[in-house]
Amino acid sequence: MTEMKEASQAVLQEGARLLRDGALVAFPTETVYGLGADGLNPCAVQKIFEAKNRPADNPLILHIADMASLDLLVRKVDPKIKEKLQHFWPGPLTAIFKKSSAVPAIVTAGGNTVAIRMPKHETALSLIAEAGRPLAAPSANKSGRPSPTRASDVMEDMDGAIPLIIDAGECSIGIESTVLDLTVDPPCILRPGYYTESDLRQVFPDVYTDPVLKGIPKSPGQKYRHYAPKAPMTVFTGKKEAVKPAMEEAIQREMPGRRIGLLVFSGEEPDRLVLSGRDIVLLVSGKRDNGRALARSLFANLREFDRREVDVIFAAGYEEDDDLRASVMNRVKKSAQGNLINVK
Ligand code: TXA
Ligand code: MG
Repeated sequence: MTEMKEASQAVLQEGARLLRDGALVAFPTETVYGLGADGLNPCAVQKIFEAKNRPADNPLILHIADMASLDLLVRKVDPKIKEKLQHFWPGPLTAIFKKSSAVPAIVTAGGNTVAIRMPKHETALSLIAEAGRPLAAPSANKSGRPSPTRASDVMEDMDGAIPLIIDAGECSIGIESTVLDLTVDPPCILRPGYYTESDLRQVFPDVYTDPVLKGIPKSPGQKYRHYAPKAPMTVFTGKKEAVKPAMEEAIQREMPGRRIGLLVFSGEEPDRLVLSGRDIVLLVSGKRDNGRALARSLFANLREFDRREVDVIFAAGYEEDDDLRASVMNRVKKSAQGNLINVK
């Protein structure tokens, strides 16, 4: 049976004990909820792959609570790099290093690099410190599903598969960390996230975004079906003036009787007349220029469509810039599995 318990000192201690015993514990971070295991115990880490149904060739992030832990897990790091990391840690940045022999092969999917992150969340940091070891933790969803931003989302996917979910409310960011490869020079962004290329450039002046992000996968996680709600989803990108009528047209073309999920920006809701007489689930994500609001609500909205059992989803998108909204759009596109309509 899976218990969901609010974070408290006693619950953190219970979680840490379970983790030391090789069990899985879901815990909150500032980005999304993680599914944690003792990162130095291969049998514990194996359970993550089983609980999530995650392909074995997709490596995991090790979460740490202090800089000293980094030295144990990675091959010698330049002190300058450590200093630079302190600008973003604790925070939503995952850095890839050459791994040390302390890291089990299962964590890195057999590779010689390891992903490390220091989350900016009190509960997460206390749990890691209390467990006394790095925690391997992917997002706590079943593979392919939207990432969980609330403890109840984790329960939806993991009920019966893990003993404990630590609940500390909604995640403040709502999309995953930016993944930055520091084993190459210049450093390279492998997954867009809360920190954008221009944020990173302040500290890593020649950082660039892997061109394959727009094409062929390189970070193993890039190639899988991702974040997908159950119903087929179409995203309409383009200017505000064009997207609204295009979505309205699509609604009118849908067969009567089908339940339509609509994800729109606030202030850009379709006309009432278009919706009347139809079975509509209308969810509003936030103002189109408010990246923080869009990030925070995306996965929760996709899961809400699943709960309301819609037959089809139409979502409003936008042109991408180098800001948080581009990272949100990266997830939206993946959710739609590339099913995009660019309206002019
Ligand atoms: O915000 C986050 O990063 C959340 C929270 C829980 O910390 N975690 C998370 O983990 O999103 P996960 O497993 O869902 O995504 C980790 C990503 C995957 O795309 C994986 O392929 C990539 O990081 N990754 C892990 N280790 C890697 C490595 N050694 N080289 C390249 N990519 C790596
Ligand atoms: Mg994930």
